[in-house]
Amino acid sequence: MISNLNFFSGKKVLITGVTRGLGEALVLTLCESGAEIIGVSKNIQGLQDLEKKIRANYSQSKINFYACDLENSDSIHQVFDQIIARSGVPDLVFLNAGIKYSEPGFDYVLMRKTFEINFFAPILIASKLISHCNTSTSLRIIFVSSMGAYHPMVATHGYNASKAALTHMVESLSFDVKKMGIPISLQLIFPGLIATDMIKKNVGGFSWDRFRAASFILRKVQKTKQPIIFPYFLKIILRVINCLPYRLRYRIFCKLKAS
Ligand SMILES: NC(=O)c1ccc[n+]([C@@H]2O[C@H](COP(=O)([O-])OP(=O)(O)OC[C@H]3O[C@@H](n4cnc5c(N)ncnc54)[C@H](OP(=O)(O)O)[C@@H]3O)[C@@H](O)[C@H]2O)c1
Repeated sequence: MISNLNFFSGKKVLITGVTRGLGEALVLTLCESGAEIIGVSKNIQGLQDLEKKIRANYSQSKINFYACDLENSDSIHQVFDQIIARSGVPDLVFLNAGIKYSEPGFDYVLMRKTFEINFFAPILIASKLISHCNTSTSLRIIFVSSMGAYHPMVATHGYNASKAALTHMVESLSFDVKKMGIPISLQLIFPGLIATDMIKKNVGGFSWDRFRAASFILRKVQKTKQPIIFPYFLKIILRVINCLPYRLRYRIFCKLKAS
């Protein structure tokens, strides 16, 4: 847990993908901050379980959870219209929900699904929120990308492509948003490896605990609107690997995948 969460006190913080992994860790860490938390996920049972956990351990927390299938744009429109009508535009948004499948072959259907959830959903949510902003609304949207957006790896082509698309969209969109004259800021987070259901194992011993990752992100968000990258050591290793000849890179990634 982090000591100073005052920055979040009284803020409306919306997080997607809250039932497991990093999203759940962000919610549980923020429960002590005095923020009003709006959580969105697909799994209704998971949302109910999390709500019970929070009510039992952080009785003062202000939470509102919504079930939404981010693969379905109708569901996004319906749920986010409801959120905006009830709570207005949040101050801070973590677009965190994502999926990753193991890709030994090339599966077009899974790739489309991955793009729907990892790319189109955050873009649709961002565009809906931005359309409700005016010169007096301050909105900060934080997109959870991945180091994979810049580093090709074994059996992650669909996932990495979706995160690369998201990254480039956000990097370019942030210039366009500046021109609108509305106080909106877009920020990217590039995690390397976090021990969650998504990666299942501690690849090469590099994974961070999800609460460590959540605390790191919340600490950084208070201080900077620049991209947040962690673990930095892994970033350097991947940069070095990317400079190696193709066959060597392939062998290293196969070894890491099997470790
Ligand atoms: N773990 C890593 O090593 C790692 C590395 C780099 C980047 N990231 C990124 O970090 C973010 C969080 O990952 P994680 O490791 O915490 O993953 P995770 O443990 O698998 O959790 C993913 C979350 O996304 C939600 N989600 C998935 N599909 C959804 C859908 N169709 N509609 C609504 N919610 C949906 C899940 O909710 P339900 O249970 O309700 O489906 C779950 O709460 C992702 O964007 C991921 O790409 C993770």
